Order: sequence, then C-alpha cells, then structure tokens
Amino acid sequence: MAECDAPDLVVVEGEIPRDMAGTLYRNGPNPMFPPLGNEHHWFLGEGMIHAINVADGKASYRNRWVHTAQYKAQRKAGHRLFSTGFGEASLPEADGVKRNVANTNIVWHGGKLLAIDEGSSPVAMDGDTLETSGPWTFEGKYEGPMTAHPKFDPKTGEMLFFGYMAAGPGTPDISYQVVDAAGKMMRSEMFKAPYASMVHDFITTDEHVIFPIFPATIDVERIMKGGPTIAWDPAVGTRIGIMARDASVDTIRWFEGDACYVYHPMNAYTVHRDGKTLVIADVMKYERVPLFPNADGSKAAVGLSEQPSMLVRWTFDLDGNSNSYTEEALNDLGGDFPRLDERFTGLEYRHGFYAALTGEPGNGKPFDTLVHADMKTGSRTEYHPGAGKYVMEPVFVPRKESAAEGDGWIVSLLYDQVRNISDFIVLDTDDISKGPIARVELPTRVPFGFHGNWRGA
Ligand SMILES: [Fe+2]
Repeated sequence: MAECDAPDLVVVEGEIPRDMAGTLYRNGPNPMFPPLGNEHHWFLGEGMIHAINVADGKASYRNRWVHTAQYKAQRKAGHRLFSTGFGEASLPEADGVKRNVANTNIVWHGGKLLAIDEGSSPVAMDGDTLETSGPWTFEGKYEGPMTAHPKFDPKTGEMLFFGYMAAGPGTPDISYQVVDAAGKMMRSEMFKAPYASMVHDFITTDEHVIFPIFPATIDVERIMKGGPTIAWDPAVGTRIGIMARDASVDTIRWFEGDACYVYHPMNAYTVHRDGKTLVIADVMKYERVPLFPNADGSKAAVGLSEQPSMLVRWTFDLDGNSNSYTEEALNDLGGDFPRLDERFTGLEYRHGFYAALTGEPGNGKPFDTLVHADMKTGSRTEYHPGAGKYVMEPVFVPRKESAAEGDGWIVSLLYDQVRNISDFIVLDTDDISKGPIARVELPTRVPFGFHGNWRGA
C-alpha cells in the first residue's frame, strides 16, 4: 500500500467531539515486497505509521513507512533483501545493512516520536510530517534493542524500558533503562534472565519493576541443529523477576510458575496490605505461545485467536518465603491488546480495555469486539461492530486533563471486510455498547497491526 495524505476525512457517522484534539499514531507491519522464502511471518513486515489527526471536529490522515536502513536499501534495490521468515536466509545484498522493521509500536516521549520493534534501536520520526530522522541512541548512551512496550510513569514522566538479547543474538542478557521526562538517559544496567527467550513486554508499578520471562525460548544449540529460532519449550517454566524501582538489577527476585505466554499485561500495582507488600499484575495469558512452533520443530503454531489469551490476576507476596504466586481469572472473554487509562499506569486502577473474540475461536480470526472491563466488579461492557467488521487495539483518550479515571473516549481502527476499507472510530466510555459516536472513513485499509498511542494536542 502507498504512502498518502488525506487532509479532510469524511465523518460518515456521528460527530467527532469538538473538544477532542490530538493524534492517534498506529504502527504495524506493511511488507514492502513479497516474501523471499515460503514464510511471511506477521512480525517481520516493514513498519508503517498511520496517523489520524483530530481537531475542531475534523480529522485528517497520513501514513508513512518508517524509513529505516532496511527500508532504504530495499527501496533502492527495488526488491526484498531481508527474509520475512524466522530462520530463513536474507539475500547477500542485505549484508552490512542493519535489520530493523520498526513495526511494533509508536510512542511520544521527551519531544520525540519513536517507532520501535523489539530487536533494534528506536527510530525517531517527525511528529507532524512522519519524516524519519534515523535511529535514536539516547545521545549515544544506549544503542541496544528496546522493547516496543516502554512504560511511562504518570507521576514522574519517566520512560522505563528493557531490551532482550542485549549482549547479542541468543543471549539471556537483558538491559534495563530509565529515561527522564526530558528524554535524558538516567540509568542503564544489564542482568541475565534465567534463559534466553522472546520477551515482548514487562510491567512497572510506582514501586516495582516486573520482568516476566516465558518459555518461548531462543536456544542457540537448537538453532545450530536446524531447529526453530523461537519455539515453545514448556519444560523451562515461567519465571517472573521483580525488583524495587530504586534498587539495582542484582536484587531481582525470581518467582516461578507454570509454563504459559503473555504478550501483553494490562497493568500492575503495588499494595501494602496487612503488613505485607504485594505486587498485583493483571495480564492476558495464553496457554502456549501463539504464532511460533514447538521446540522439536513440529508446527502447532496457533494464531492469536485459536486459543485467545484470558485476563488473569497474579499476586506476588514480596514478604513471603515462597517463590510461587497465585492466579485468579478476571473474566471469561478472551482477547488481546489490553490497555488502560494510562494516567494510572502502575497504580491501583479500575478501567481496562481490550480487543476480544466472541463465538467460536479460529486460527487467524480477527478480533470482533471491544471490551471495557471494570476491574473492581468484574463486569464488562462490549461493543460489537457486526458481521464482517473487525476491531484493533483500543486506545483511551481522557475527556479532559482533570477527568476521572476512565472518563473519556476509546479510539480505534475498524476494518470493514465488505468495503475493504478501515474507519477511525470514537466510542464514549460512558457506554461503549452504543457504538461509535463518530466513525470516520479512511482513504485506505489499515492492515491488522500492532500498537498505537494518542498524543494530545
Ligand atoms: Fe505488543
């Protein structure tokens, strides 16, 4: 699909709230060329940013590929140089060019718009034009990989992040960084995880940092024998590392649990109850890692929707002697892409949102429902767009700066299979089941992708 600008979008249903002003940035893979080999893994297409700008009841759209070194080399060559299958070879022309798909998330921090995948440095882009400036290394202070899911402390404005395989491919080394509100790197440390694996996300509270390690292992020996690069290897179990925010990574305490996989936590917080310090983490838990094979190479690469992840609450007792933790189910509707009112990141909270799948699960079936979950009562409100319409990650926008938690709008992208086009939708969190208060037609289809964020004007 092409890069384009659409300055004046048509509001086809309802009205955009007059006091809503800002930009929804969304990142996702948008492969430049057909695959080199047999496989085209969803995670390895080149990232494209979609930006929907809203002001005065009107909306505009702009999309741009992230112009990474990989993008530029392939654009120049006029064909694909990098493989889009894990373990498949790239062309010799790709030698010396840094692989970076920059396709997973797009965040605004310290005056910079950063496109991130989890294997490379973030790539800085202009917040208005979406022009790429290049890899951002925090003034040369960190050149390693960065998770696509940094966390933003709502009280301090700090950005906290980690990078896995920070000492090179297949290593269990993880880096941990803290960047202040102005974008200055304040802290960068390294530690070793119990084993090397794909570490997609982590969680922070106002007092603790939580590093969840799941058995989607990256085993150099297995790879050398021709086995899969990333594979489900349940024998090694789940390990959850927790440390105090102000302590060194040497103090990480490892808890152990049954094998499972979490791409995305919703939130976590620290509570002091009955003289105990507890860390409560709400996560979307899969029974096995979707989208990757078994360690013996056998297929079993289930999609996100074949066994959707379920919202569960983990409780860690930091004053207890046990290295185990408890788990309780929070509801019975599976999905993924959990979000919250991010002004409550790391704090006790009540409002959660996610994309869900109703009806029969099926491999490759897109999400057909948006959920507003009340994390206190366990009740939920659902928006069902109807047959042939599919939703993407819900992003919360506060009604105003002083609005109560969860009071505002959900913005998301809706794909209509019949029209083969995507809409930008706005739902009121008062009752998302009423459907969009505004639906705005985009000039194109936005492929199913990953994550985005709202930047208020
Ligand atoms: Fe993600």
